[in-house]
Amino acid sequence: MDVREVANHNSQESCWLILFDKVYDVTEFVSQHPGGPALILKYAGADATKEYSNVHSPAVVEEHLPLAKCLGEVDAATKQYLLVSQQRSPSVLPSETSRVPPLSLCVRLEDFEPVAKAVVTPQSYVYISSAADTLQSHRDNIAQWSKITFIPRVLRDVSRIDTSSSIFGQRCSLPFFIAATGMAGLTHPEGESPLAIGAALSGIHYSPSTYTSVPHEIIATQHREAKQQHSDSCLIWQLYVNKSRDKTRELIRKAKDLGFKGLFITVDTPVVGKRDEDKRLRAQEQLELGIVPEPVTYRGGEKIVPGSDNGAMCRSLNWEDVKYIREAWQGPIALKGIQSAEDAKLAMDAGIEVIYLSNHGGRQLHSAPSALATLLRIQAKYPEVLERCEIILDGGVTRGGDIVKALCLGAKAVGVGRPLLYAMGAYGLDGVMKAIDILRQEVEVTMTLLGATRLEELTPSLVNVRNLAREIDGLEDSGVSSRL
Ligand code: HEM
Ligand code: HEM
Ligand SMILES: Cc1cc2nc3c(=O)[nH]c(=O)nc-3n(C[C@H](O)[C@H](O)[C@H](O)COP(=O)(O)O)c2cc1C
Repeated sequence: MDVREVANHNSQESCWLILFDKVYDVTEFVSQHPGGPALILKYAGADATKEYSNVHSPAVVEEHLPLAKCLGEVDAATKQYLLVSQQRSPSVLPSETSRVPPLSLCVRLEDFEPVAKAVVTPQSYVYISSAADTLQSHRDNIAQWSKITFIPRVLRDVSRIDTSSSIFGQRCSLPFFIAATGMAGLTHPEGESPLAIGAALSGIHYSPSTYTSVPHEIIATQHREAKQQHSDSCLIWQLYVNKSRDKTRELIRKAKDLGFKGLFITVDTPVVGKRDEDKRLRAQEQLELGIVPEPVTYRGGEKIVPGSDNGAMCRSLNWEDVKYIREAWQGPIALKGIQSAEDAKLAMDAGIEVIYLSNHGGRQLHSAPSALATLLRIQAKYPEVLERCEIILDGGVTRGGDIVKALCLGAKAVGVGRPLLYAMGAYGLDGVMKAIDILRQEVEVTMTLLGATRLEELTPSLVNVRNLAREIDGLEDSGVSSRL
């Protein structure tokens, strides 16, 4: 197909795109694009491969557009007329890199965020930093860690500290892992690669999202190559369960073939939460492009603007489905996003090996409980869950001390999301390595000063949870704080 013909289809009425030398008619898809119509319309009639590749792996277009929307190959002889959009929006602004202070000035995880904010595009920063509604859950996630204080023991020989732990029986050198964060290409031009390589070099586990910017095949190869012999790091697949069982099985098969060692099944995302800053940004982008959206999406009991629901996240997911997933995976699984003691108990009864307490970084349900609060509720109501299942958790962790607190309360390992994204956005692989090292040092110093030489010695007797328990309904009466 002649690229000059493609260039004619450059509007909302008729919108064609070139991706990987193929022409796609995305006129109908534009209004359903989960990233908003503006992003696609910017490239209408042009080649969007470069910008698309910053965000999506090549498979996304095939998975989400019907075959008939591929209009054919670009005629190579006409490529000289190719319109590469003028409005490129790379995820990293080169002119901003001069503002980056030396990495040595980053001494704790919070130091990476302002640097990343200056480096990545405003859109990317909003995507990473946003959370549901007023950000309350995200803020609580962070704030609650400091409501727990330590009760250290002294005069114990702490000349040697062992920080190694395991998830799914897979050893890791440190008791934390890199949590799943979708589309890392928005944060760094190399997408998930610095996270995968950083994890491999540091001996910690990494859980790439179902929705990566770099294909999982490449992530797996880079991880394997970076992994030195002594490194314990493994990859764990974060699974968004697809509405189609066949598609879910396909993802699971891929995870197996690529050597992923476990599955984190995300169960807190039947829909994406309401993130106000994202909505505001989308609205601004649309205005700039002259797109006038419908003022309301709902009238007379009918949705007049249909949401896009291509089944990539399964709304009907329920406890029964866990069975077919387990059958397909044939290995240990974790449910990611458990937020109540009752569901933790159900998970235990269903034979789930690993329970992953999380409120998705406060990005899903507004006013959701922190993973820490859920852990305390489990301690109070169903302490047997801690005996029979591995508990891991994430949300708001910014320092090694937070990790040690979680371990004292019975967690096996802790996930870190945004702080590592900021470190990567600001400094790439060097930033990821430095951030992991900062956490490692903090974990070691905390354990040493607590008088604990191995993770098994981190017990509830080393923490005071009374302040936090007071805030959590029912916990004061249950006596959990005096029992712990
Ligand atoms: C026409 C081909 C495209 C398809 C089929 C497509 C599909 C999707 C899908 C399914 C998502 C949800 C998350 C995911 O699955 O990764 C998404 C999100 C996103 N897409 Fe695309 N996309 C296309 C083109 C583009 C282009 C050209 C850009 C321009 C840079 C873009 C930028 C984004 C961004 C920034 C998100 C972020 C997610 C969000 O903000 O919700 N996409 N897209
Ligand atoms: C009308 C439909 C949809 C809307 C309005 C919507 C909106 C959003 C918003 C606002 C976000 C958060 C921030 C951002 O990425 O910009 C998001 C994230 C995301 N969306 Fe969508 N989305 C829709 C449909 C979908 C669909 C169908 C998919 C699956 C292919 C999808 C996949 C994702 C993923 C993977 C993320 C990132 C996950 C995370 O941040 O935890 N979205 N979407
Ligand atoms: C930008 C971003 C993208 C995320 N994408 C996913 C995802 O694709 N799948 C998922 O299960 N969780 C996702 N999460 C949630 C994280 O796995 C994790 O639960 C959360 O980030 C932990 O909180 P923290 O950011 O405060 O460390 C995402 C979080 C962020 C910040």
